[in-house]
Order: sequence, then C-alpha cells, then structure tokens
Amino acid sequence: MTTQRQSRRPVDLIAAARRARRRARADFSTFKVGAALETAEGAIVTGCNIENATYGLTVCAERVAMFKAISEGHRAFRRIAIVADTQDPTPPCGACRQILWEFGGDLEVILANLRRVTGRHRLSELLPQPFDARLLK
Ligand code: THU
Repeated sequence: MTTQRQSRRPVDLIAAARRARRRARADFSTFKVGAALETAEGAIVTGCNIENATYGLTVCAERVAMFKAISEGHRAFRRIAIVADTQDPTPPCGACRQILWEFGGDLEVILANLRRVTGRHRLSELLPQPFDARLLK
C-alpha cells in the first residue's frame, strides 16, 4: 500500500511547471507550455510541450507529464498545474482533457502564467459528459 502524503502547496506545483516550461521544444510555434502533475503520494511529475518538424506529432506538456507519470508507475493523481506565458488562461486542449480524465479522473486543474494564477477548475468542468472506459462495459 502506498502512503498518502499531504498535498503539495499549489505554489510548489506551479513553480515546477514553470521550470518544466523552460525545457519546452516549441521550435515551430514558440509557444512554450509546462505542466506539473501531483500524484496521490505527493510526488510531482513534470512535462513540457515537444514539437517536431512534422508539426502533427507534437505532444502537449500535459500529456508528456501524464505519460511520464504512468510509465514511472504512478496510478492516482490529485492536481495538475499548467503554465504558459499568456495573460489569458491557457486551458488544456481537447486531446489532453481526454487523457487527463481517463488516467487522472476529476483532477484539480490550476492554470498559471509566469506571474500569477489565471484559473482554477475541476477537470469535470472542462470536460463535461466524458467518454471513458465505463461506457465500454
Ligand atoms: N500546448 C500545450 O502543450 N498545452 C496546452 O494546453 C495548449 C497547447 C502546446 C502544443 C503546441 O506545441 C503549442 O502549445 C502551440 O499549440
């Protein structure tokens, strides 16, 4: 059984997402995004967006964070912080909402820019009426 740790402070999660954002490979769009996912045990797994010359094989920061976390053995998650250098909130794209929902459930989603928090949501608010494995039974 894994030990449940106390929640991370949102400020720490956002700081981790800001650091991850600096590692983004946004060579084509120049739009850098960082994400930091908090696991149920209180670990933080980060991601940044990674673009390539085909454009279409781009992976967003949120999915990089989730896939890294899954591959490292994490199975339950609490929150994700997403950081972009924008005045308006940068919410996750549709593909990321689906992946976050299927592997993370009703996460708290904290949106931030380089200075401040720009939004706080539950994933169920961003992805109402989701399609997921329950419908396949
Ligand atoms: N992007 C993310 O990584 N996350 C988001 O929430 C929105 C978009 C990336 C994909 C692409 O590399 C760049 O931002 C522009 O769309």
